[in-house]
Amino acid sequence: MIKLFVTSTYSKKEVFTSVDPDLVVYNCNELVTMNSKYGAPRLYGDMSKLAIINDGAVAIKDDRIIFIGTTDELISKFEFGKISIKIDATNKLVTPGFIDPHTHIIFDGTRENELSMKLEGKTYIDILKAGGGILKTVHKTRQAPLEKLVENGKKILDRMMLYGTTTVETKSGYGLTTESEIKQLRAIKILNKQHPLDIIPTFLGAHTIPPEYKDKSDDYVRLIISEMIPKIAKENLAEYCDVFCEEGIFTRKQTKKVLKTAIRYGLKPQIHIDEIVDTNGALLASEIKAIQTGHLLKSNDEGLKAMAETGVIATLLPGTPFCLMLDDYAPARKMIELGIPIALATDLNPNCWTESMQMIIALACYHMKLSPAEALTAATINSACAVQRQDEIGSLEIGKKADLIVFDVPNHQFLPYHFGVNLALKVIKNGKIVVDNDFST
Ligand code: NIG
Ligand code: FE
Repeated sequence: MIKLFVTSTYSKKEVFTSVDPDLVVYNCNELVTMNSKYGAPRLYGDMSKLAIINDGAVAIKDDRIIFIGTTDELISKFEFGKISIKIDATNKLVTPGFIDPHTHIIFDGTRENELSMKLEGKTYIDILKAGGGILKTVHKTRQAPLEKLVENGKKILDRMMLYGTTTVETKSGYGLTTESEIKQLRAIKILNKQHPLDIIPTFLGAHTIPPEYKDKSDDYVRLIISEMIPKIAKENLAEYCDVFCEEGIFTRKQTKKVLKTAIRYGLKPQIHIDEIVDTNGALLASEIKAIQTGHLLKSNDEGLKAMAETGVIATLLPGTPFCLMLDDYAPARKMIELGIPIALATDLNPNCWTESMQMIIALACYHMKLSPAEALTAATINSACAVQRQDEIGSLEIGKKADLIVFDVPNHQFLPYHFGVNLALKVIKNGKIVVDNDFST
């Protein structure tokens, strides 16, 4: 038995514990710790600093990391023979679990038919105006019982976990009535209790104008403000509030109204901005001090500079322009140069359906010109910051949650290089092996 002083560099929480680990991962060819100072997102050149330990080792007790170092140090610190679970990561890459900070997993019905419409040249807004897109999913989701939404969500979470995601933010937004928005948020709450993944709930009642409020969008905003937000806050069903601010959807003024009310009720603000048209969303995001913003394909320089100054996180969603077959991707390189914190997410929804953060890392490299190291930073510590969980997750440090991935590749450059397949061999969530794709043992 060895006495260890376990501290988290983030929370400054100091816990005295005397423990033997119950699980170790050792001989890691590359152990990407992402060791992150001061709990802030990594900016500029720091996005490339992965704090790699070669021949690295991690020791875990219960759900926490109690040791990080080299394999030699591990062996000299603990009685190796006594440790019950030992994972030999020879020739393997080990990283923090992915955090997917922007998704829409609670829905019913699928939209595979829309691909042929896109191939015919129909835009996202054309499809929505024709009653497809979000509105089609709203129609199906309203009819679905709560149990069906839970069942659908579970399938998605299972697959996310298989691909290495250990924490996920997800939104309502396919109900658009008080009752069915609450139904979606309840499904998230149930899944958070039942599923190994940690889920952060966001209220997105302002996702689109429901058919009953066609041409009466201000009335719908009033419903969100006067009924939905108070009820959702009272039942403690959401941590964040999001709005789809876009030409023909919610205006800047409406977005402000919704988010200001949300803030008064204790919800934290997020915005979908500048996806199709530049509505000056980036400036709005910095005025409202959004924690994170999604899309930003069309954001102007003034808005981006304001985001850099206020530290609003740009959560980039390259799966969406990929599925919409757009030429433009968010200007990630410019954002890094300006000092904007960048995170990556799948944006999983019926228009853009991938559970794989590995795929998103590949798209970020090939289409937005992030380096593999920058993309991995954006998918771990920076996405932890996007959901304000950087004290607990996003890097492998003593005292933090033991959420990590063992990849069947020798180094992090392989993640985008060998693309379109699942490279995760084992996934550890809260100190437990939740995925084992290793059929060799
Ligand atoms: O972030 N753009 C708005 N909302 C989602 C898409 C939702 C849908 O098409 O069902 C997004 O891409
Ligand atoms: Fe989205």
